[in-house]
Amino acid sequence: MMLIKTVEELKNVLFQINCGGKSVGFVPTMGALHEGHLSLMKRARKENQVTICSIFVNPTQFNNADDLKHYPRSLEKDIAFVQNYMDFIFAPSVEEVYAVPATEQYHFGDLETVMEGSARPSHFNGVAIIVKRLFDWIQPDRAYFGEKDFQQIAIIKSLVKQFNLPIQIVPCPIVRDENGLALSSRNMRLSETERQIAANIYRVLKESTAIKTKQVSAIQKFVADELAKFDIFHLEYYEIVNADTLHPIQNLDDAPSVVGCIAIYAGEVRLIDNIRYK
Ligand code: PAF
Repeated sequence: MMLIKTVEELKNVLFQINCGGKSVGFVPTMGALHEGHLSLMKRARKENQVTICSIFVNPTQFNNADDLKHYPRSLEKDIAFVQNYMDFIFAPSVEEVYAVPATEQYHFGDLETVMEGSARPSHFNGVAIIVKRLFDWIQPDRAYFGEKDFQQIAIIKSLVKQFNLPIQIVPCPIVRDENGLALSSRNMRLSETERQIAANIYRVLKESTAIKTKQVSAIQKFVADELAKFDIFHLEYYEIVNADTLHPIQNLDDAPSVVGCIAIYAGEVRLIDNIRYK
């Protein structure tokens, strides 16, 4: 494994790899790595000749300064955790990534006005800025993203399409704790009690797929009522949408594939998760 800190070094290394015609698998991350990240890296390793991950807490995608300040950072631990799976780790400084100021404006139409897009204004523009820069520098053949960030995958696929980038986006299944909680770097900020209670998010989502109604409002009410039984939760949204367009639907029969996406605070920590209805 080789640790790379600058764009120049990155380009030099990758130039040689590209000249050798080797396939490159890329896993972008913000660090605080866990088994969920590892599953992306193992898949990248299986499907490519060369693997690279980035570890960079990207300030332009945080619309809340406090959230950015508290985002977990553990570079040395992260390197030890993934060094057997990645050939290269790109861990630049903010100054390195934003030597050219972040003035880009990307547009994703309806995809960016719902759910995370409306709850976190400018978030997806920040994600697109960093991912587009990383894609331009690394030029991977495949890039791996976790389905926990369901809407993010739709945004990245749109980015790739808009710029006609020759990169295959590979969505990978959510990895969960034994108790069902979706793995997330943010879970580190939960107390032991909060972590146990947070397992109810997935339990309730799963139960909601088995209730005998196709009315979205009734399913949303079930989820909200069940989660309201726990004091630590503050539900931000539970949206049930067409999984292809992310448009809200009224009835499960309104779309060929349907996903429910949740954003919920467990104490101070904002968590997201999702579940398929079909
Ligand atoms: O999903 C993430 O961790 C981030 O949004 C990403 C894709 C690494 C961009 O900073």
